[in-house]
Amino acid sequence: MIGALFAAVSVAPALAADYTIRLSHGDNENNPTHKGAVKFEELAEKYSDGRIDVQIFPNNQLGSEQEVAQALRTGSIEAEILYTGNLVPLAPSVGVMMLPYAFTSNEEAHAAMDALKDPLNARLPKEAGVRILGYFEKGFRVLTNSKREVKTLDDLQGLKIRVSKNNIAIETFKSWGLDPIPMAWAEVFPALQQGVIDGQENPYTTSISSKFYEVQKYITEIHYLIWSGPIIISERFYQGLPADLQEALDRAGEEAAVYEREVSATETEKATKELVKLGMVLSGAPTDEEKWQSAAKALWPSFSEDIGGKEWVDKASGIMEKAIK
Ligand code: MLT
Repeated sequence: MIGALFAAVSVAPALAADYTIRLSHGDNENNPTHKGAVKFEELAEKYSDGRIDVQIFPNNQLGSEQEVAQALRTGSIEAEILYTGNLVPLAPSVGVMMLPYAFTSNEEAHAAMDALKDPLNARLPKEAGVRILGYFEKGFRVLTNSKREVKTLDDLQGLKIRVSKNNIAIETFKSWGLDPIPMAWAEVFPALQQGVIDGQENPYTTSISSKFYEVQKYITEIHYLIWSGPIIISERFYQGLPADLQEALDRAGEEAAVYEREVSATETEKATKELVKLGMVLSGAPTDEEKWQSAAKALWPSFSEDIGGKEWVDKASGIMEKAIK
């Protein structure tokens, strides 16, 4: 007992950090997003010599991805990792990452998102009160559903598919002949379980981490979008930091993104095998993929106004093309 007391008093009290960052995201602890968030926490605390304390809130605990992005504007929450598609309504300029079929590989998306980080950070503080510290990536979003194998556009017709709440996803699915159902991410699993929707689209790793294999049977690699997701920080909070801590966060964000992309690539490969073992049917790409592509790509000019205007889209497209070459 005396020994225990002695041990208790001899432990130095932990020094309180100067700043606390609550970092919200919408996935669970098994998803690459969370693993990247943990790496960001570790690096931000290390590079700030413990002056910054990062606390992670997974599973939409602080609110939906779109609600938290709103809270970052006022600074009532400090940071978030979210799907680009859930940020576009608040920060239209990031929508250039969402043009359907803009990327043919993960590497192309990495090159584009890295090249766009600074140009986006010249716009987002004014547009949405946030800035980007690093860009996560989880591979192509694949279509899952409980009803039938989707190998062609004809097979898709009539399915009730959830999309994230942004105009690009909604219009793209409309161009394929569907009436998609926009829905917040947190509602998707129960909606699949209750049959309110037949399917959804998200990366392979999400079908594992969110256990979609329990309520979904078929997967099609529709290749229309890569899951890209920035770590964003409240501009108000960031501007209140001394320069050395701003640098610490920028460095932590970039390095956490490199780590997360590697984790995601490994886990995506594992997920494709596991999902088959778990009974899902993986159909690969649609046999008439060029029809899906031409319908969706024809929409690009009409998206300009939703994603920052023609001047920005032209500029961003130039930056992306140069980076990808
Ligand atoms: C969504 O579909 O809303 C997102 O991809 C979910 C996520 O952030 O993983």
